Amino acid sequence: MTQTITVIRGDGIGPEIMDATLHVLDSMNLGLQYEFADAGLVALEKQGELLPAATMDSIRKNRIALKSPLTTPVGEGFSSINVELRKRFDLYANVRPAKSFPNTKSRFPSGVDLITVRENTEGAYIGEGQTLSADGEVATLTQKITRRGSERIVRYAFELARRTGRKKVTIVHKANILKSTSGLFLKTARAVATEYPDIECNEMIVDNTCMQLVMRPEQFDIIVTTNLFGDIISDLCAGLVGGLGLAPGANIGTDAAIFEAVHGTAPDIAGQGKANPCALLLAAAQMLDHLAMPEKATRLREAIIATLEAKDSLTPDLGGSGNTMSFAKAIATRI
Ligand code: NAI
Repeated sequence: MTQTITVIRGDGIGPEIMDATLHVLDSMNLGLQYEFADAGLVALEKQGELLPAATMDSIRKNRIALKSPLTTPVGEGFSSINVELRKRFDLYANVRPAKSFPNTKSRFPSGVDLITVRENTEGAYIGEGQTLSADGEVATLTQKITRRGSERIVRYAFELARRTGRKKVTIVHKANILKSTSGLFLKTARAVATEYPDIECNEMIVDNTCMQLVMRPEQFDIIVTTNLFGDIISDLCAGLVGGLGLAPGANIGTDAAIFEAVHGTAPDIAGQGKANPCALLLAAAQMLDHLAMPEKATRLREAIIATLEAKDSLTPDLGGSGNTMSFAKAIATRI
């Protein structure tokens, strides 16, 4: 059966890592067809808008997108198209695995295997109600957390634990200080946890979580948390396993799912063939799991691990002298 997916090549290193990823996927005879669509700066230049209707239609129709990173200007300019996509398709679960791989610059070469499940549609991160006073002295932001939003993300985390045989869910919050917002998240999470007596559950305040992750990451299995905390924690976790080049993420909703790398457009290395394609490839493996092709997903992950083990054509971030496409070709050969 043929499955059509929407492919967004993105900005910065996006086109390079996407070409490399599609090269590997093409070598796997998956029956995938690609529908290319633009978003972000490229779309603005070509079509005059950041998120063209044709791109929205393509994702709505195919329900699956593989997406490279998109630029968001810092401190000014347009709002994030990533946040907009997550909002418009109600992609409420952001699932970010962090796993130790061989021959990476990790301080924990074999000890990390955890998943951050981040609420993706509410909280401070979405930037609702941002204002800056006329004199530039006072800025505000609305932080809205809902019972519904909290309940469905925590349920997602526990269901993921059951489905994947994971044993423990850690609820990460700041309810000691943010008593209303983080408090509602924590209260709701505790109630959901009672429905899963087979899964161990504990709670941790977010600042302590950061320290614990650095000191003893092996104590974590699945972390579930709100949007902004999840954003920061998942990059920390990427650092534990050797950097952003190895960190994938899935944005899952009821009607659509978008798979992407955790990292951004890496303007400092764009166009130089230095970008590590593994994060997007690992996101593609998450996509294959989602498309009910778990054996193919495993084959892809195993080929990535074998290539890392052989130190074959690795990109500079992993200490190699290969480039984005030579690394991808080495992986495709192992498949
Ligand atoms: P970044 O993730 O693009 O880069 C941070 C550092 O990691 C840089 O030194 C970069 O060279 C390195 N890096 C990132 N990906 C790599 C890869 N695949 N291989 C090797 N090295 C890699 O973060 P930064 O600089 O904060 O953001 C740049 C732009 O990306 C901003 O406009 C930001 O808004 C956007 N961004 C987009 C995301 C998305 O589309 N999902 C996610 C994060 C940032």
